[in-house]
Amino acid sequence: MYGIVLIIHSWLRWAVLAAGIAAVARGGARDSSTGRWFTILLDVQMLIGLLLYFVLSPFTTAALGDFGGAMKNPQLRYFAVEHVFGMVIAITLAHIGTAKIKKAPAERRARLALIFYGLALVAILASIPWPGMPAGRPLFRF
Ligand code: HEM
Repeated sequence: MYGIVLIIHSWLRWAVLAAGIAAVARGGARDSSTGRWFTILLDVQMLIGLLLYFVLSPFTTAALGDFGGAMKNPQLRYFAVEHVFGMVIAITLAHIGTAKIKKAPAERRARLALIFYGLALVAILASIPWPGMPAGRPLFRF
């Protein structure tokens, strides 16, 4: 179960990134659903992440058992705190963006998409465990 969910979480990252790029480019356009897709995929990724965090991942469940000790271990701290913190910021920005774009007049939407989806995308890119980082993970997991 853990292996399958980790594979899904790893691959879904690419869908989230693609949707994020589309949302920055077209999220403010008339009748565009790219922003909504970006937020939906992010929400799904968050739910899968929370399942890993609280139930399946041996890293975060160990960290939750001894949080103080985990803070001294860069790998454990990364997944217990840094990864989740950055992603929650991204998810919040994407949701605020979607809500604001819905209410905004047409001429302001593209700018809002650029700002909110763009910042969300930056937070995501900064919070992914890219290969080469201390807590780095593979780009493609099988
Ligand atoms: C609140 C939201 C999230 C939570 C709670 C969360 C939680 C986690 C946890 C616990 C792990 C480590 C799993 C393990 O190795 O045992 C992990 C890994 C990872 N997360 Fe997240 N995550 C979240 C959002 C995201 C998002 C939005 C992305 C990308 C769009 C993402 C991309 C990844 C990647 C690429 C890995 C490494 C997977 C691998 O080892 O192949 N996460 N996440």
